[in-house]
Amino acid sequence: NQKKKLLNKHFLITAGPTHERIDPVRFIGNYSSGKMGYAIANELVFCGAKVTLISGPVQIKNINPEIEIIKVESADQMHEQCLRIFPEVDGAVMCAAVADFTPESYSDIKIKRVKDDLVIQLKPTRDIAGDLGKIKTNEQILVGFALETNDELTNAYSKLKRKNLNFIVLNSMQDAGAGFGVDTNKITIIDKDNNQTFFELKSKTEVAKDIVTQIMSEMNLNER
Ligand code: C5P
Repeated sequence: NQKKKLLNKHFLITAGPTHERIDPVRFIGNYSSGKMGYAIANELVFCGAKVTLISGPVQIKNINPEIEIIKVESADQMHEQCLRIFPEVDGAVMCAAVADFTPESYSDIKIKRVKDDLVIQLKPTRDIAGDLGKIKTNEQILVGFALETNDELTNAYSKLKRKNLNFIVLNSMQDAGAGFGVDTNKITIIDKDNNQTFFELKSKTEVAKDIVTQIMSEMNLNER
């Protein structure tokens, strides 16, 4: 009975993009819809888990009231909430498309149109998944995502190693219907021993089931 398998387990999920403020009316963002992360949160709740979802700005409606949602805007805010909650959880799934760079400074007033070029200096954000990987215990599961344009499998595996993940979900960029905004996704799951499992294109709801099944096997819950 899938419904009971994750009873008494608590998961942290990140989802959506982050917005990095430039001035009161502008930000740097990305096309992440948050659909994949919300689908994973739903599936974990279905399997009996408690879920805390740290969400960037998304347009998703009809959210399962059993999911505890913490809304954040920036990479820095997401980082702060994740580090606060991670010690309490049994597992974390880093699904958010976190900004890699954020403006060095914020302008309190709207930046005016001028004839000259405008230069916005950016500084790197902190790697949330990487920082959780450093404090992860042997009992905790940490899952990451990867979106690569080249050398997909090699890059995803080195990301898994660098961030100390249990497994990484590689999103295909090759296939129409995979990735940002759409309701479907095509993934490859790569584990610590570089075992690669290729999945068909399916709805993000179905993809979430495959990811949760992998989480259960990492937790040795599948044979029960
Ligand atoms: O290094 P890269 O951004 O490609 O890694 C992607 C994975 O790392 C995703 O799981 C993403 O949620 C996570 N990540 C993060 N914090 C960042 C950047 C990426 O948690 N600042």
